[in-house]
Parts: sequence; C-alpha cells; structure tokens
Amino acid sequence: MPRIPVCSGCTRPGSTGVYRDVPRRGLGAGATDRAVEQFDAAPCEATADPLFQLVSGRPPEMLLVVAASGHENVAAIADAGAARGIWVIVDLCYERLIYEAVPHNLPRILFDRLRDRTVIAGSASKAYAMTGWRCGWTIAPKELTAAFNVIQGQSTSNITSITQKAALAAITGSQDPVTAMLDEYRRRRDSIHAWLTANPGIQCVKPSGAFYLFPDFSEFLSPDGIRTTSELAQALLDDARVAVTPGEAFDAPGFVRLSYATSMADLKRGTAKILEYLHALEAKNAPARA
Ligand SMILES: Cc1ncc(COP(=O)(O)O)c(C=O)c1O
Repeated sequence: MPRIPVCSGCTRPGSTGVYRDVPRRGLGAGATDRAVEQFDAAPCEATADPLFQLVSGRPPEMLLVVAASGHENVAAIADAGAARGIWVIVDLCYERLIYEAVPHNLPRILFDRLRDRTVIAGSASKAYAMTGWRCGWTIAPKELTAAFNVIQGQSTSNITSITQKAALAAITGSQDPVTAMLDEYRRRRDSIHAWLTANPGIQCVKPSGAFYLFPDFSEFLSPDGIRTTSELAQALLDDARVAVTPGEAFDAPGFVRLSYATSMADLKRGTAKILEYLHALEAKNAPARA
C-alpha cells in the first residue's frame, strides 16, 4: 500500500482539508485512511526539516502538496523526491484564491528538478465556481497522462463539450470576477472569524487561502454530553439546521470545518445559530465542570 504524506503547507489545522478524501477518491479501493499521513510543512520562509525527517525515516512513494508552500520548500521537496524516487503531486486548485498571494512559479521549480515524477493538478471548481461542471486538469509525464485517460475514459467517460467551452471561457476571459470574488471571500472570512472568536472559548486560525474556517470547538465537547465533533455536526444539523463538516474527517478531532462559499446573509444567520447552540452547550456542561 502506498504511503502518502499530505503536506498542507501550514503549521496548524486551519487553511485546508481534504486529507481523508484523497485516498478514497483518488487512489481507489486499495488505499485506506491509514495510507495518508497528514504532514504540516513549515511555512514559506522556514526550512523543510520535518519533511526530510519523514523522508529519511521510511520513504513514502508519493507526496501530495495541497498548498503552495514557498519556493525553498518546494525546491527542497523536489530535490528530496529526485534523490529518493518519490512522486510529488501538487494540488493547485485554490491557486487563485490566496488572500495575500505571493508570486511563484512552482511548476517551473518542479519541472526543472523533478520533471519525470511531478503531477500538477488544477480545477475549474473553486476559482470559477464551477464545482458541478466537473472539470479539472493535470500536467504530468506522458505515460501517466495516458493512464489517467484510461481510468477517466472508463469511469466518468469525458468532460462534455459544453463544460469544455465554459472552462475555456473562464480561463481565457477576464479574471476580474475572480479578484472580486476573492475580495468578497476575504470579507466573509474576516466577518465569520470575528463573530466566532468573540466567544473566548473559540480559537480559530485565519486561513490564508480557500474558503473554509476551521475553528476549534473542543471547549464545547464533554464526555457526558456531545463527545466528538461528529456528534456536534449531527446535533447542529438536527437542532440548529446548520451543516458543518466534523474535524474527525480531517484527522483533527475537536475542530469543525465551516465553508463560507455562500452569501453573507446566510453566513450571519448560520453562525448565529451555531453560537447560540454552543452557548446552550456551555451552560449544560458547566455543572459537570464546576
Ligand atoms: C484541496 C482540494 N483539492 C481538490 C478538490 C477537488 O475539487 P474538484 O473535484 O471539484 O475539482 C477540492 C475540493 O474540495 C479541494 O478542497
């Protein structure tokens, strides 16, 4: 079974999270959750030491980089990959949704250092709000691309001509709407972050990209009440009518993922309901903690 460390490019849970989905959706039935190790690379300016420890311990066969983690880190990852025959897959699907974007040319670095073992993946889903259109792309060695085609052709057949035209228009047209949407996402991020952290029991990193917040709700869990964020997510759905994703799905118990890819009005209403629910939980848990 392949060992696949997932490098999120952040030091704490907070900016992204598809770790558990990756093996199930991308690598077929043989890969299980255990095949994935979540791995936080140091941020851009720091060194890639933790990665080297990992690589020199029990070398993985593949490394998935979910966020753009800076030139030095990516160069170090590419060199480690080249020296040890490790494949590197870079997921750039949020590339255009980074709030304080730093210019980079990660493909160049990877192609210069690890051309034969690099896969760059992109998608129309996020920047162009085309999730339902199911259009993504990869840049990869020829043989691998041929193998992707075999799998894709027999599973989802192909991307419809309508989607292809739409994706082409999105990519080659004006990118002003993407910038406008990024500004809107920034406003939403800052607003929900402020609403949530007004409660001193909630810690929440401000993400530097994408459109999810990942607050720590462990303060509201209790062995005699709601014990996990999976239970909390179910309770919020049943009682507050708000959908959130439990942290257990991302190997981060105690955390909850909130998507802000919806209107400010809905976010305000949804966050108020969550806070109200947590407030009630706090009151319920208080006697047991006293
Ligand atoms: C980091 C990351 N990569 C890839 C995807 C896949 O997006 P899609 O299959 O819609 O292109 C997602 C979707 O949530 C994501 O968060």
